[in-house]
Amino acid sequence: MSNYSDFFAANKTGWNKRTAVHKDSAFYDLEGFRAGKPALNSIELDEVGDVTGKSLLHLQCHFGMDTLDWARRGAKVTGLDFSENAIAIANNLAAELSPDARFVCANVYDLNQHITESFDIVFCSYGVVGWLPDLKKWAQLVAAKVKPGGFFYLAEFHPVVWMFDDNFEKIIYAYDDQGVIETELSGTYADRDAPISGKEYGWNHSLSEVINALIEAGLELTSLNEWMYSPHPCFNKVVEVSKGKWQIEGLEGKIPLVYSIKAGKPVNG
Ligand SMILES: C[S@@+](CC[C@H](N)C(=O)[O-])C[C@H]1O[C@@H](n2cnc3c(N)ncnc32)[C@H](O)[C@@H]1O
Repeated sequence: MSNYSDFFAANKTGWNKRTAVHKDSAFYDLEGFRAGKPALNSIELDEVGDVTGKSLLHLQCHFGMDTLDWARRGAKVTGLDFSENAIAIANNLAAELSPDARFVCANVYDLNQHITESFDIVFCSYGVVGWLPDLKKWAQLVAAKVKPGGFFYLAEFHPVVWMFDDNFEKIIYAYDDQGVIETELSGTYADRDAPISGKEYGWNHSLSEVINALIEAGLELTSLNEWMYSPHPCFNKVVEVSKGKWQIEGLEGKIPLVYSIKAGKPVNG
């Protein structure tokens, strides 16, 4: 992955800047979470199911709220993210809320250098694959971390979303866009007016690219669902169509905003 190092460095800088804003934002509501408010959404809670006593690896965990929510629900959790600022906050939160939780600061492509064991559940969600240039390599790494009989779970923004401009007025990228996409960071989804800027780099991945990468890595698809709403109001021009369910103004009910994949590792896999 050495030829991507400049892109990763720029993205890491961007996520460190975002994290400084996110930790105090109403969007993340860290105080509410400390007081017991859930961070996870019904999509992943219903599809992942009971995690009591399960080991769970959360990749690209940001500052750990979702990871620690799984811990509150009984999982033995490990979170990984490459943002030093995010992992510092996650470690502080863990010390306060779930001392058994472990957080690792690393690029997901360097997973094997930092985490040697495998897990009952490998989880990631909402804004992860778009930061990854090579999904085949990612899927191989992820699949190797799932114990035989365990599963991988992803809830992710739908690739149709990333075809549009920021205001969802026109389609500017092909569904199966193959190149790197350079964007200007200007504010963040948790605070559009935050005084942060810089360049970031992303990659669009179609549903078939994600699914085939996971299948080629030896996982077996258990479910694929597409959701016509986002549980997070993280796009421009969103409307809350019912409690906790956001759609794009003017496109209500017309485009999927999220998909979710559950894929198991065979017992003899
Ligand atoms: C949109 S956030 C994930 C959202 C998460 N569900 C939450 O709690 O809000 C994306 C995360 O991916 C991390 N990230 C991006 N590229 C990465 C990489 N190559 N390796 C590890 N972490 C990465 C960022 O630092 C960021 O915390």
